[in-house]
Amino acid sequence: MAALLAAIPPGSSPESDVHTWPDWARIAPHIEAIAARLRGSDAPAVDPELTIRASRLLGICGFYRRGQVRYGTRGTQRSATFVGQGLPAKWETVTMTSFDDHERLRWAGRAAAYQRSFAALCAYPSEALLDAAGVEAGHRMLDAGTGPGTLAALACARGAAVVAVDAEPSMVDLARLRVPEAEVRQATLPNLPFADGCFDAAVANFVINHVGDPAAAVVELRRVVRPGGRIAVTVWPYPQPPLQRLWGEIFNASGASRPGAMPRLDADKDFPRTPEGLSALLADVGLSDVHCYTITWTHHTDPEDWWSGPANGIGAPGLLMEHQPPTMITRIRHEYDRLTAAYRSDDGLLALPTAALLASAAVC
Ligand SMILES: C[S@@+](CC[C@H](N)C(=O)[O-])C[C@H]1O[C@@H](n2cnc3c(N)ncnc32)[C@H](O)[C@@H]1O
Repeated sequence: MAALLAAIPPGSSPESDVHTWPDWARIAPHIEAIAARLRGSDAPAVDPELTIRASRLLGICGFYRRGQVRYGTRGTQRSATFVGQGLPAKWETVTMTSFDDHERLRWAGRAAAYQRSFAALCAYPSEALLDAAGVEAGHRMLDAGTGPGTLAALACARGAAVVAVDAEPSMVDLARLRVPEAEVRQATLPNLPFADGCFDAAVANFVINHVGDPAAAVVELRRVVRPGGRIAVTVWPYPQPPLQRLWGEIFNASGASRPGAMPRLDADKDFPRTPEGLSALLADVGLSDVHCYTITWTHHTDPEDWWSGPANGIGAPGLLMEHQPPTMITRIRHEYDRLTAAYRSDDGLLALPTAALLASAAVC
């Protein structure tokens, strides 16, 4: 696998020079095989650079082979223009950053692992988010980055007509299974396959913190919501609350080394994870009536379920775990048991204090 990917020139971008690779026809099927392997639970740890290159390729080679996409570069962004039949011109262009590439890889095949571990944590602000977006019976609502469909299900229970999208196919499958009454589709912010103003509301629960260009994602949510409709989003705050700090403390105590290049947003696309910062993100793209507040709560979780998320590659702690040898995983587990002991309640569950920023705004 490494040898195959190494054959691709370092630093090359599939969008800019895929047509000039003499061996593309030979490489493409192998890339798909690598992608399938990377999604598998027994996927071996691979060189991060090769992994990133594989992830860039896997998202596009299916389209390439069907002759449905052309590539180009625009400044620092790569673009892919879909040229297949039945794709409305308006939805043709997608732009991705390397952070988005990383996200595709992190979530690939991980719906079940997320559902067991972090989904219950993320579920907490759901009703408040629907309230902030003004979702009620008869509304047509978009749940962007639906994951296992938690908000989609709650909105359906309110009598809303729900369309739910996620970039990750395993999440789409899980949401379809869990929320059959919603229309669930695979789609990736900031390019949604919907007409302007076709929703009364849009929500994105802990999704804006997973996109390479948060402002572009919010602009796209604004585009698909009608004037007068509302958008509501959540992100994790900074400074981190105890629950979020805990993984860093565990890794520090175990002496685990960080992989060289932890994925980061481009500096010009980042925003402060504070009520002011999130409010400005919404206001600066022309939304009005912006409200943002901090929700605090205690997350109760089974210690094995909580461990299982990073142990199965979920989130930044999962990325770090993936890069550790088995002996270090044993040490991390030891520190996990030691440092979570302070949060154990009598019922054996962990009681972890946490917080989120919830912001909403109206489309003018
Ligand atoms: C932390 S999970 C939140 C899932 C769900 N909203 C919930 O409350 O449980 C983030 C989700 O966003 C999805 N996601 C990440 N980037 C995305 C993008 N650019 N477009 C659509 N979905 C995205 C991931 O695949 C994942 O399902």
